[in-house]
Amino acid sequence: MTERYAVIGHPVAHSQSPAIHACFAQATGQDIDYGRIEAPLDAFERTVDEFRAAGGKGLNVTLPFKQAAFRYCDEVADRAREAQVANTLVFGERVRGDNTDGIGLVRDIEGNLGLPLGGKTVLLMGAGGAAQGVVAALLGAKVGRLVIANRTFSRAQALAARVKATAARYEDVRDQFDIVINATSAGLSGEAVPFPAAAIGQATLAYDLVYGRDTAFQQAARAKGARCSDGLGMLVEQAAESFFIWRGVRPPTRSVLASLRGR
Ligand code: ATR
Repeated sequence: MTERYAVIGHPVAHSQSPAIHACFAQATGQDIDYGRIEAPLDAFERTVDEFRAAGGKGLNVTLPFKQAAFRYCDEVADRAREAQVANTLVFGERVRGDNTDGIGLVRDIEGNLGLPLGGKTVLLMGAGGAAQGVVAALLGAKVGRLVIANRTFSRAQALAARVKATAARYEDVRDQFDIVINATSAGLSGEAVPFPAAAIGQATLAYDLVYGRDTAFQQAARAKGARCSDGLGMLVEQAAESFFIWRGVRPPTRSVLASLRGR
């Protein structure tokens, strides 16, 4: 029997997740139907309740509901507890939450981009939900040094204190890093973007969690000769981990990523 899944967010029309999961289902022979649900901003819980009542088996959760999803769960995996956000919900007797964003980022950098994280220096820009979602996985991948920079320094301090990391102000970043990750939402609505120029050189991987657009961060990093990546590979890898959680089968990701990139 076809089992139902979906991505829930607001907005969600742009989401590539249905296309990705359709490819996964086809490649693995899994009988699933994966849709998109735009929940009203004030009705996340009710919308999820309705999906479950209609027999839905699981959801991917995107902005701005990842914290609400965490609160909705009866139980959570360590990865979600560490991040305090959930992007994957599993509906059985109880509601279980997980967070696959961090492992998705690590698998994209290490597997798809071919850069092992062990011992590397990493500058994480941002200390909001997106940054929180990936710090534990970066540390789990044994990065050598993790510095968290944020406009509001106290938020960087709070996040750094929770994990083994150092907080910094953008203007105080002087060293070059192996990897600089943009986890801010700056630039999405056209405002000025923090760019710690000293951190980024020709040997740096500049990684933007955003996908589907050439952001000011990527443009500035490219101008400094850095290798750049958007977050499309992370999207595919986090989806693959969610698919594995739901179906117990690991789907292929490289071919899906290549087809999304149109090659
Ligand atoms: P998300 O879930 O996307 O991370 P968030 O929790 O609102 O959203 O966090 C947004 C992040 O982008 C924060 O790190 C924020 O910095 P502040 O904590 O100082 O607000 C960062 N950000 C957003 N707009 C920014 C801007 N114009 N300049 C610098 N940082 C910005």
